[in-house]
Amino acid sequence: MDLKNRLSEIAETASTEFANTHSMEELETLRVTYLGKKGKLTQVLKGMKDLSAEERPVIGQLGNKVRDEITSQLSEKKALLEKAALDKRLSEETIDVTLPGVKPKKGQGHVITQIMEEIEDLFLGMGYQIVEGNEVEEDYYNFERVNLPKNHPARDMQDTFYITNEVLMRTHTSPVQARALETHDFSKGPLKMISPGKVYRRDTDDATHSHQFHQIEGLVIDKHITMADLKGALEALAKKMFGEDREIRLRPSYFPFTEPSVEVDVSCFKCGGAGCSVCKQTGWIEILGAGMTHPEVLRMSGVDPEVYGGFAFGMGPDRIAMLKYGVEDIRNFYLNDQRFLEQFKVKG
Ligand code: DAH
Repeated sequence: MDLKNRLSEIAETASTEFANTHSMEELETLRVTYLGKKGKLTQVLKGMKDLSAEERPVIGQLGNKVRDEITSQLSEKKALLEKAALDKRLSEETIDVTLPGVKPKKGQGHVITQIMEEIEDLFLGMGYQIVEGNEVEEDYYNFERVNLPKNHPARDMQDTFYITNEVLMRTHTSPVQARALETHDFSKGPLKMISPGKVYRRDTDDATHSHQFHQIEGLVIDKHITMADLKGALEALAKKMFGEDREIRLRPSYFPFTEPSVEVDVSCFKCGGAGCSVCKQTGWIEILGAGMTHPEVLRMSGVDPEVYGGFAFGMGPDRIAMLKYGVEDIRNFYLNDQRFLEQFKVKG
């Protein structure tokens, strides 16, 4: 049989065989049978070297045509088989939409964040606004504007990290008082604010000291504010954080930015006031410092102390969290140990 006939026969059998193929494996075997290195087509084309110069291009062309036909039949069949396989899978697979899903693990805020948000919620509910301050603060606002001039002895307790001689990491949230006072427009109403945030001190870290911790500052300035208003606000705080039965007491103290100044104690939430190890047998636990805003602080911010006055307070959420949850070492809050942190869920 000459090459021409053999090529036509290959083309013919290939097309019937492809048509009768029903699997990818069979198709692959056919591809090798026809187009492989030792395949039928290759075998025939090898015989071309014995042909005459006139016949060679004719057979060559025919050979190419047959190869193209087989190749395109092959890819058509492949596409068909793939589609059939997909259709089969889709019709077989079912999804049970009634199966319960995988519940994502819900995280929670850091325990200090949770405590701060709880306190923020309380004060927002009493009409206070939340004011953000700067952690990198000027000496001028951190100290001078809250009545702690250069060389004031009370600065000793608040050494910090300095950026330059005049710029430092704030040692308390009190500078926010000065910044809020100078921008507040008293013709629009009283200033009632709290300011939560991080503060810094050059302390040696131990169980009760950390070089970075948190404070929440409070300030209320209007025309007729008295110490009774301060006591009312702080009593609401003590009850919210430590239970409805709590009482507070005020003890005289000293802060340069308030006059008079007080330390605020809450009746012991553990023993109710009888005396226990939490309150060191006194029945009371100190929770914050407060007082009536010093006239000088108002004056320096351009507010007339003859007309306006009010109170301020400053508390440490770290200390409140330690008391509330019986945490004995403040450093636990900053180690980011999940096993420690996961224990605290203030809200649902
Ligand atoms: N700034 C004080 C401190 O860091 C805390 C403080 C006490 C703030 C009394 C106040 C206040 O606003 O009235 O030790």
